[in-house]
Amino acid sequence: MIAPKPVAREDRVSFRRYLKLFRADILSAQPARLYRAWMAEFRTPFFRSYLCNDPALIDTVLKERPGDFPKSDRIREGLAPLLGRSVFVTNGEEWARQRRIIDPAFAGGRLAQTFPAMLAASLAARDRLCHRAGGVVEIEAEASHAAADVIFRTLFSIPIEHEVAAQVFDAFRDYQRAQPLVNIAAFLPLPRWFPRLHRTPVRRAARTVRALITRLTEERWAAIAAGNAPDDLATKIMTAADPKTGDCFDAAEMVDQVAIFFLAGHETSASALAWSLYLLAASPAHQERVAAEARAVLGEAPGFGDVARLKFTRDVFREALRLFPPVPMMVREARCPVRFRERDVRKGSQIVLSPWHVQRHERLWDRPDAFDPDRWQRPEGRESARQAWLPFSAGPRVCPGAGFAMIEGPLLLALLVRDLTFAPEEGPPPVPVAHLTVRAEAGIRLRVGRRGTGNAELPGKA
Ligand code: HEM
Repeated sequence: MIAPKPVAREDRVSFRRYLKLFRADILSAQPARLYRAWMAEFRTPFFRSYLCNDPALIDTVLKERPGDFPKSDRIREGLAPLLGRSVFVTNGEEWARQRRIIDPAFAGGRLAQTFPAMLAASLAARDRLCHRAGGVVEIEAEASHAAADVIFRTLFSIPIEHEVAAQVFDAFRDYQRAQPLVNIAAFLPLPRWFPRLHRTPVRRAARTVRALITRLTEERWAAIAAGNAPDDLATKIMTAADPKTGDCFDAAEMVDQVAIFFLAGHETSASALAWSLYLLAASPAHQERVAAEARAVLGEAPGFGDVARLKFTRDVFREALRLFPPVPMMVREARCPVRFRERDVRKGSQIVLSPWHVQRHERLWDRPDAFDPDRWQRPEGRESARQAWLPFSAGPRVCPGAGFAMIEGPLLLALLVRDLTFAPEEGPPPVPVAHLTVRAEAGIRLRVGRRGTGNAELPGKA
């Protein structure tokens, strides 16, 4: 099946137009040559940006010399009102210490302990959609609801219906509406001295989210002190000591970290789930195979070990992450002059690594725009993936939630498709645009039905 394919991609665009197009429609608007090039240079009056698609360059930046290519200050400035100095934006020893405290909470054995909370959220999402079967549903909103529920239940042992969780979710939506695409800011031709005032709605929404998160963490410190805190991710991270120095996060640091877990953990997973469901809706044969696998593997009380047996569903999820990577690009700054592919890259240049381009690159993937989950079982597909699949980034800054997301995504997908059918609604296909993550410009509207029944007698039918 061919994924919604751009018509004709333009071959050359100016930098200014490129930025405009990136925000308008990242699928069709990207110049065709960027899906063939190993490297491209963008010049602006104040600095240069290099898009690096060559897997060897990506390895250099992310795995071999990450210290020479830190996160750019512009990214930190863009996200500071919400994220403070969280692990997502820091560099050097400050960042390394944060990862030493956080990483153990996401290690394999610990993940198994989060499974009951993930399952409860997934079943709740299934039930919500069952009530709407027979109608047309905007699936991105449902996916956001489900992914936020997973995060609140695994982090703080509270469902999304909890009063504070619901308020964080709403305030966060306001933040998203107010916040322009952050990574694009790193491209913008502004000199370093240019004042970077955040717009009032962004600051206001960020303040609200942080005040609510502060409340949750304060309550948790009190429960930890009283010895009656639940054994969830928040407790694990708040009581974990840095193995090198022995110290733990203080209250302010923990607010920064919870903010990034919520942002990185729910926006991304929601985007991936929504696009996965869209691709399956557009490909009924693949959808049937997911349903059959889910029926065979998941009983009424699925266990953690069952997720590993959802092999085809996992390949569908990987393929969706390839075609619609939730984080379409990552930006780093060259701390020293380097030479990339016979080109001198000056100190201070922006290095752009783009899962969006690399994962649809014509020289790295066979039929790069096709939705073909079976490629993941073929040797050449695996080789392409080894070189050119980086939805979670790579190297020491790889997403610490990758293992978590690769359980959550297939589980949600399998449970939803086992019990429900999804079909595209009439009309033009969704247009992917880059917000905080890759979203559809006007949402993704799918017709939802109950699998194995007629829809006539279902609850919620209009
Ligand atoms: C499908 C789901 C997800 C995708 C595609 C994804 C993708 C990414 C990517 C690409 C990065 C690197 C960004 C950069 O270097 O600029 C990242 C970082 C991060 N992610 Fe995820 N993520 C997902 C889910 C999660 C979850 C569930 C959590 C936590 C609960 C999480 C927490 C983080 C954190 C804390 C970082 C910052 C790591 C660092 O800079 O050291 N992510 N993620």
